[in-house]
Amino acid sequence: MAPALHLPAGTAPPAPFRIPQARRPLEVAVVGLGHVGATMAACLAAAGHRVRVADRDDRKVADALRGRAALVEPGLEELLGRARAAGRLAATSVDEAARALDLVCVCVGTPGRPSGGLDLGQLAAAVETVGTALAQRRRREPLLVVVRSTVPPGTMEGLVRPLLEARSGGGAGERFELALNPEFLREGMAVADFLAPSRIVLGERFKGATRRLAGLYDGFDAPLLEVGFAVAEMAKLVDNSFHALKVAFANEIGRLSLALGLDPQTVGDLFLADRRLNLGPAYLRPGGPFGGMCLPKDLRATIALCESAGLEVPVLEGALRSNALHLDWLMERIRKAVPPPGPLLQLGLSFKPGTDDLRGSPLVALAERLVAAGYDLALVDPDVTPRHLAGRPALADRLVPPGAPLADPRLVLVGKPVPVLEDGLAPAIPRLDLHRLRGP
Ligand SMILES: NC(=O)c1ccc[n+]([C@@H]2O[C@H](COP(=O)([O-])OP(=O)(O)OC[C@H]3O[C@@H](n4cnc5c(N)ncnc54)[C@H](O)[C@@H]3O)[C@@H](O)[C@H]2O)c1
Repeated sequence: MAPALHLPAGTAPPAPFRIPQARRPLEVAVVGLGHVGATMAACLAAAGHRVRVADRDDRKVADALRGRAALVEPGLEELLGRARAAGRLAATSVDEAARALDLVCVCVGTPGRPSGGLDLGQLAAAVETVGTALAQRRRREPLLVVVRSTVPPGTMEGLVRPLLEARSGGGAGERFELALNPEFLREGMAVADFLAPSRIVLGERFKGATRRLAGLYDGFDAPLLEVGFAVAEMAKLVDNSFHALKVAFANEIGRLSLALGLDPQTVGDLFLADRRLNLGPAYLRPGGPFGGMCLPKDLRATIALCESAGLEVPVLEGALRSNALHLDWLMERIRKAVPPPGPLLQLGLSFKPGTDDLRGSPLVALAERLVAAGYDLALVDPDVTPRHLAGRPALADRLVPPGAPLADPRLVLVGKPVPVLEDGLAPAIPRLDLHRLRGP
């Protein structure tokens, strides 16, 4: 067992810190010694792997081999020093790594372009070198090429795999296997985050293709989530978009609090004290637009307060606009799947399951738009009776009473789950799930 490493606690698990120990030490190359690569190299060496490092910047390699961190990161230098003392850190070239090792982890930069996309030039260059060297691989087992950089969906299948295949002269699974293993560490907490991840995401060609990443994370106390490449590629972008959204939201609330003479931190304390609805999975599943009696009205009221205080709050205003656009988008998707007149069957009218409240319900708005667009629409909602629709004759006429026969629709819109009815529908009828967004 390696000696405990003392790290600042912060939001990470408390120090002293457990370093997972490898059951089967691997020969691993880490290409690119920025925050991600340097941290990974130091931590894998601490876990018992034999790590070879490469960077196009010789200074970074020389620093690492001397046990020096080229960047400020708590715990990094201590781990590099230990790795050096244990003889588990050495330099390599990308070519040599591809010819001789078990695994190459590509941790090069993917900086933003002025246009907004990511610049994949460093990645392409590194992968090309790996692929070319694979043609002279000295080992029978395929090299596992692990991309750790942040990349947009489509990069593994559209760039990395074709480059490796073209340069190595063989298909995936022959001289190489490939994986996308995005990194979620935060600068300033990099070592702590690396050693105690909340989850490990593994994108691969098919489940098991990388044999759970060759045991690289054995001993890590975190779920390893195996998915396809594109979903894994999405994960990092989704996380960082959400973190950015949270900061911008919190700052808008902070500006409003100050404008109202309130302490932003006390307002924040109350907000953060709710771990059921505010912090946690609530409201975070893609589904239908928000609606009902409270959310739209209170969001508008908050925006009105900001306007009176002369504050611009594009995140809050954007939430309203995004919600309206979501309904437009659903209409368009329905129209593309089945143009008017359908017929369509919509399950659910109240604004969410378990209530008969139709006020501000996006499902009512959807049904009205479908009728206006000329659809032959049948409505089913076990919580809703014709009495609820007294002021809406266009919808009341279409409400099918429970147990009444239903003609087969061309598309079912699942606004809220009605299991008894859904089970009775022919499986061949396509469904658009608005409650938990899914195809067609
Ligand atoms: N910095 C973070 O906090 C963080 C966290 C998670 C994920 N990421 C992602 O991980 C990736 C790496 O991030 P970083 O901050 O470590 O990047 P960085 O730019 O600091 O470091 C990249 C390193 O790769 C080297 N490099 C570039 N091309 C090379 C090549 N062909 N051969 C050898 N070395 C090469 C560079 O010299 C540099 O040292 C990026 O995609 C980033 O978005 C970063």
